[in-house]
Amino acid sequence: ALPDLIAPSILSADFARLGEEVDNVLRAGADIVHFDVMDNHYVPNLTIGPLVCEALRKHGVTAPIDVHLMVKPVDRIIPDFAKAGASYITFHPEASEHIDRTLQLIKAEGCKAGLVFNPATPLSHLDYVMDKVDMILLMSVNPGFGGQKFIPATLDKLREARQRIDASGREIRLEIDGGVKADNIREIKAAGADTFVAGSAIFGAGRDEDPNRYDSIVAAM
Ligand code: DX5
Ligand code: ZN
Repeated sequence: ALPDLIAPSILSADFARLGEEVDNVLRAGADIVHFDVMDNHYVPNLTIGPLVCEALRKHGVTAPIDVHLMVKPVDRIIPDFAKAGASYITFHPEASEHIDRTLQLIKAEGCKAGLVFNPATPLSHLDYVMDKVDMILLMSVNPGFGGQKFIPATLDKLREARQRIDASGREIRLEIDGGVKADNIREIKAAGADTFVAGSAIFGAGRDEDPNRYDSIVAAM
């Protein structure tokens, strides 16, 4: 099995001090930076694009950046994110006209590629592309906002995704996104996840100046 990774979602960070916020969670022990891209079209919210990803790299962030694209259309923004320093790029099958082509495009740009499944989206989209996928991201909330409640049916879906990964014999990350907290992360891990996105659970700790305020939160996850 791959080592577990904690992936703070900067959606809940203080955007006016984003560089510091990312430095502080990485120093606290987080492994990768989860970067939520929303377009006010595929999802009802508007966030950040390649310029902000590039700014984090220029700031000195060397950890992998895990770009979660909630945009439609998806293909034309992929090269921009690759140039901006993305490590993983994941997208929703509903947002691509040609899923296999989009996966190939991400890999041709030198990034790891993944598919994202909304709570009601079936895993059968994986049937013919398992050889092109480096990450499977299961949404445990409907995409668009931080701070929502974990949908329990996702646990069975995680078990099914874990079986598919094990049967493939490939090293594919199984990421979970939405409502992950210190008090449900063990159960989520037991269901098969190895990459844990947490936004409000980590950055919800407030806006004070203490650079160590994330240490105990990240350690509890
Ligand atoms: C929701 C985003 C998530 C969000 C998770 O569309 O994909 O990454 O930031 O936030 P929490 O952890 O607060 O549910
Ligand atoms: Zn996300």
